[in-house]
Amino acid sequence: MADQDDYFAHHKGEPFRFKERKEERGWWRAAFESFAYLPPFNRMFGKVEPSYAESYWYCMGGLTFLSFLFLTITGVILTLFGPPWWLHTHIGIVMKSIHYWSAQAFFFFIFLHVVRVWLTGAYRGKRWINYAIGLTTLFLAFGENLFGVLARGDWESQFVAMHSNYMLFGLPLLRLIAPSNFTQVMLVHVAFIPFTLLVLIGVHITLVKLQGIARPL
Ligand code: HEM
Repeated sequence: MADQDDYFAHHKGEPFRFKERKEERGWWRAAFESFAYLPPFNRMFGKVEPSYAESYWYCMGGLTFLSFLFLTITGVILTLFGPPWWLHTHIGIVMKSIHYWSAQAFFFFIFLHVVRVWLTGAYRGKRWINYAIGLTTLFLAFGENLFGVLARGDWESQFVAMHSNYMLFGLPLLRLIAPSNFTQVMLVHVAFIPFTLLVLIGVHITLVKLQGIARPL
């Protein structure tokens, strides 16, 4: 034990470099211990946040992101297996339901996130850019939701396709899309919008990382 205490005391506050650990503990032990000692993602998550950012309200953006990850993973599985699988098999229906509830969670958390951003005045100064990026993701997510319903292929989906065809898809530019064209709808739902969202969310979170969390009003 004393030996271990000395070892930790010796390294206190220093990065545990692999080379040094290898010299002191041998290659095998150093390699196995890497999992325990190396800070993940180069200390990216080790940053101490200000106390006001520790409340549940400040977790809403992260939970929105988590819901987005769930949506992506279940969405890729659904796409790989196709509509007969997600409409008619037990496991397919379960996967479709997880995808659906992840979307509900996404909108629930994004709404709370916007409430928190608004109430803490986090849009001030240069953060207006991130606010605008966030709003763009929100509106794109509304579109993604519509195309998700159109892609589902059940009765309600066809009903929405019929109505949106007369209303939304009668508008200039949007006229290029036919909601009854499954291939077109899937392309928008699984490629165009999600990739744009991914890029926007990436920029959004990177900007939060660079600008830091705003002091509340
Ligand atoms: C896919 C959607 C979104 C994701 C994944 C997301 C994620 C995040 C995360 C993780 C943070 C860090 C702080 C926190 O969680 O509260 C954050 C901050 C921020 N978000 Fe979002 N967000 C999204 C949508 C939005 C929307 C719709 C808006 C505004 C309309 C917005 C505006 C902001 C602003 C201004 C900040 C900086 C807050 C500060 O410095 O205190 N975000 N976002």
